[in-house]
Amino acid sequence: MDYKKDFPVLVERNIAYLDSGATTQKPQSVIDAVEKYYKKHNANPHRGAYSLSIEATEAYENGRDKIAKFINASREEVIVTKNASEALNLVAYSYGLDNLKDTDEIVLSIMEHHSNLVPWQYVSRKTGAKLKYMYINDNYELDMDEVKAKITDKTKVVGIVHISNVTGTINNVKEIIDYAHSKGAVVVLDVSQSIPHMKIDVKELDADFVAFSGHKMLAPLGIGILFGKKELLTKMTPFLYGGDMIEYVYEDHTTFAPLPSKFEAGTQNVGGVVGMSAAIDYIEAVGYENIEKHERELVDYAVEKLSKLDYITLYMTNNPKHHSAVISFNIKGVHPHDVASILDNEGVCVRSGNHCAQPLLRYIGIDSTCRASFYLYNTKEDVDRLVAAVEKAYKMFEKYLKK
Ligand code: ALA
Repeated sequence: MDYKKDFPVLVERNIAYLDSGATTQKPQSVIDAVEKYYKKHNANPHRGAYSLSIEATEAYENGRDKIAKFINASREEVIVTKNASEALNLVAYSYGLDNLKDTDEIVLSIMEHHSNLVPWQYVSRKTGAKLKYMYINDNYELDMDEVKAKITDKTKVVGIVHISNVTGTINNVKEIIDYAHSKGAVVVLDVSQSIPHMKIDVKELDADFVAFSGHKMLAPLGIGILFGKKELLTKMTPFLYGGDMIEYVYEDHTTFAPLPSKFEAGTQNVGGVVGMSAAIDYIEAVGYENIEKHERELVDYAVEKLSKLDYITLYMTNNPKHHSAVISFNIKGVHPHDVASILDNEGVCVRSGNHCAQPLLRYIGIDSTCRASFYLYNTKEDVDRLVAAVEKAYKMFEKYLKK
């Protein structure tokens, strides 16, 4: 299937865009939906009695309904944030600071993005709760033995990423969540790298908190979602204070609005929610089955081609069933930023660096990689361009490399 034609940037620019793990391109339908909102319906939502403001409110709240249905949540459990980082910070501040004490433990996987790691360091410092890590094995996977060794009766919070943005490992989050619950811990799941590629059903997963960004799933930048179980959100105090999240404000105290508004201070990003709605429509029209099938073919093809280059190191599991649409690699002896610059000259866009996961890279024993990440609009031609550009980069450096 040719999905590329739906993405104006990919039609306009002659590039192989392989950085969807960082942000996806946007289909015309998302761009049109946002434009239509600003041309025809824009006003401040929740605040005006006039019809234009009511239209903005409806656009926002209908969007929330669509997002809730998409992840199988109820609307009051869906909090709109600016991105996954803000969603995860919300949990750390509103849940972590109030519920943890110095005899408790926070257990994170070493694969966490800084967004689900640095906030917990803060909570650990403030509450005295001990921070522990679950490490990966030599095959870049998290074994249940390691999970069971680290999550104990002392664990109060488990932070786990569904798919690593560096290795592409798909964690067995259902089993981890069930185990964490058996020990009485609350689970904070980061699905930023999985929800673009696979169905997320929060009820089936039974995670307590689930965070993701819209911009990695075809929606505009600046929109993210936190799902939280109603019984937890109800007991939590807000993270941000201000307009629209209140019920009554007195000189010395305030009562808060019901869920979900309690966690949505200030004027919200209606255009972002409208764009996210259109992104969900696009994903649902294509269907996750088709997305997964298309990406599987592409990733298998890319791994097969890259594996043949003996000067390349791949940082990924050898079990394709546990691997998603992210391939991190290095040309041995060449800095990834140099490789990425040469690839850029060939019109191939990959990310290079530590991918906001420094503890993971340090654990692997490296400080950076090149990363090609795929999405539904990529083609085999993009993979061919990647491989040809990598070969060219190697040839440029070959004479300087020690044999
Ligand atoms: N978290 C994004 C990435 O992995 C930015 O590239």
